[in-house]
Amino acid sequence: MGLRKVTVVQPLFSRPQKTPMDAKPTTASYSETTHIVLPNDTNLLANLFGGQLLKWLDMSCAISAHRHCHRVTVTAAVNNVSFEVPIKLGDMVTIKAHVSRTFSTSLEIWADVWTENQFTGERIKCNSAIYTFVALDENGKPTKVPEVIPVTEEEKVRFAGALRRRQLRLILAGKMKPEEANELKALFA
Ligand SMILES: CC(C)(COP(=O)(O)OP(=O)(O)OC[C@H]1O[C@@H](n2cnc3c(N)ncnc32)[C@H](O)[C@@H]1OP(=O)(O)O)[C@@H](O)C(=O)NCCC(=O)NCCS
Repeated sequence: MGLRKVTVVQPLFSRPQKTPMDAKPTTASYSETTHIVLPNDTNLLANLFGGQLLKWLDMSCAISAHRHCHRVTVTAAVNNVSFEVPIKLGDMVTIKAHVSRTFSTSLEIWADVWTENQFTGERIKCNSAIYTFVALDENGKPTKVPEVIPVTEEEKVRFAGALRRRQLRLILAGKMKPEEANELKALFA
């Protein structure tokens, strides 16, 4: 009996990657994914289980991050998610995500969630979420990402507020001193 050939899967980030560093419009990172809520995705009230939505959001945000920087990226933080409207069994859920701002090696991704009743077709925007991703180089270390240029009015507002949100999340993560958060402090001046 011959020996079985074993294929070793290389981690993605150990492969050479090219990252053009030119600034990109938000449109380059648009991602849109649609899911249907099946029984296995629901809680005891037959509403979408929150953890399932977080997973779908994470996936959509990852697609946006990859489209923006063409690098391996990882979720560094889930910064804001609220569940304002229950999403029902059988509903269709559409998640639209885009890079709202980049910093040095991190990207803020904004995702809007829409639910659609499959019988009436009624669509409701049910929540928004903000995730932070970090791009990694071939050695798995954080690496620089291109800047983003907001296109729509809404994206310009999100871009402008991103610095304050970043300072707040780094303070909460114990990675920034409150006294260093000048833009955040200016809100209360
Ligand atoms: C995310 C990670 C790469 C950051 O590594 P690190 O050694 O802390 O790197 P640094 O301190 O140099 O920070 C790198 C960037 O991450 C950002 N960052 C780190 N922790 C963060 C947090 N809690 N919230 C937001 N941003 C954060 C930093 O602000 C920095 O961004 P910048 O370069 O744009 O200024 C590392 O913590 C990691 O690998 N985490 C696990 C990721 C993962 O497995 N995700 C899937 C989870 S299921």
